Amino acid sequence: MRIYEAKDYNDLSRKAANIISAQIIMKPDAVLGLATGSTPIGTYKQLIEWYEKGDLDFKEIKTINLDEYKGIGPENEQSYYHFMRTNLFDHINIDLANTNIPNGLEEDIEKECARYDDIINQSGGIDLQLLGIGCNGHIGFNEPGISFDKSTHCVKLADNTIQANARFFESIEDVPKYAYSMGIKNIMQAKSILLVASGENKAKALYEALYGPITPAVPASVLQLHNNVSIVADEEALSIVKSEKESLL
Ligand code: GLP
Repeated sequence: MRIYEAKDYNDLSRKAANIISAQIIMKPDAVLGLATGSTPIGTYKQLIEWYEKGDLDFKEIKTINLDEYKGIGPENEQSYYHFMRTNLFDHINIDLANTNIPNGLEEDIEKECARYDDIINQSGGIDLQLLGIGCNGHIGFNEPGISFDKSTHCVKLADNTIQANARFFESIEDVPKYAYSMGIKNIMQAKSILLVASGENKAKALYEALYGPITPAVPASVLQLHNNVSIVADEEALSIVKSEKESLL
């Protein structure tokens, strides 16, 4: 596991975008696993800027997103489909037919999960999976307690996740209670993983994920078992990691 410390959010975004750019340049038809949340927004902005400068080409890139709220459609401004269009896809030359996000409107859970797993498996494997981290250590929408051998599944969102995500909705009642998410198994099968974390509210989850016991209670701790993980985090997110290390010196 490699940990890159960023000075601030801009630095984090540039470092993360550099890692993604390297993947795109090395493999122009790479499969990128993409994430939502506020943390990757700066990374996507940086990628757009480099695309506009002519440094990046997304023509052959395929994307598979981690998750989507269940019960809301692509036209809903809070959907992750809408997030991806406005924060990335509408600004680059990606072929929308090559982008994949779970269908939040599919009522048949088994059918949707099987369809999504097929997409992941038939893609030839995710070359680089981008992840954020929830304050409770979740990745994608794999909430604490999740079994590590799950592939795509329908999740009941944890109360603290609903609270954390309420800032994007008019009221907390509007936050969907369920979501479709890639499972830990899908994430761990990615060839490489890039996790981005920013801010003090992520410091505890990040410390536990990187140095705590590997346990479903902190879903991100499973990443300790992956052989190609890069962490890009700012000083605040790394504050506990750093203070614990200093106390050992
Ligand atoms: C959501 C997403 C996660 C994301 C997390 C943290 O719950 N499903 O993929 O990592 O939020 O988001 P943020 O970056 O806004 O803190």
